[in-house]
Amino acid sequence: MKLISVAIDGPVGAGKSTVARAAAERMNFIYCDTGALYRAVGLYCKRNGVDMHDPSSIAVAMSDIKLDIRLAEGAQRIYLNGEDVSDEIRLPEISMAASVVSPVPEVRAAILVLERDIAEKNNVIMDGRDIGTVVLPNADVKIFLTAEPEIRAKRRYEELVAKGKDVTFEEVLSDLNQRDYNDSHRAAAPLRQAADAVLADTSGMDLEQSVDLVCGLIKERL
Ligand code: DC
Repeated sequence: MKLISVAIDGPVGAGKSTVARAAAERMNFIYCDTGALYRAVGLYCKRNGVDMHDPSSIAVAMSDIKLDIRLAEGAQRIYLNGEDVSDEIRLPEISMAASVVSPVPEVRAAILVLERDIAEKNNVIMDGRDIGTVVLPNADVKIFLTAEPEIRAKRRYEELVAKGKDVTFEEVLSDLNQRDYNDSHRAAAPLRQAADAVLADTSGMDLEQSVDLVCGLIKERL
């Protein structure tokens, strides 16, 4: 039977991972969060004092990095050189590190191999920035999920506060704008909507409505 791949791209805090995870569960697909792979590279560079302003140092560090995605009870776990770093990569300082390492072509090339391998073996909903444009250009369904910046920042702020993080709304908004700028202005695989992607603005929607929308688009295309 032909495998189905669904690409969900969009800016920071559009709800991609929450929506994609819930939609994958409903459709009985694998969910793959590709941002986690960039975060693991960012974490490695931070831990090992790699010069984040020097792309060639990041490229060299890539040869010491082995990334693995494993599934445990349906949830994705990320391993960095054999260590489960799934929780540590969620720290706010790792978000920016991921955005800084992600333009480096050697980083993108290594992660691309892992991403395509997953899509070749599973029915998958994969989220990221370049899934519909570069990673899976032949994806069966492509969705560009977005929302107003203030709404995205508010969602991210509430998520961080619920986790006990000491942040202000202004900090979260400025970090989000900076990362969106980095992600959409880099030369390699910048964040942009694929020509054949459906644009979904979730500004006025709750989670259930967003998941209904995504599952509806998937069923429509199948
Ligand atoms: O989705 P996220 O916030 O976990 O992603 C972290 C960073 O990784 C994001 O700022 C840009 C980068 N990224 C990317 O360049 N390409 C992807 N497919 C996914 C994430």
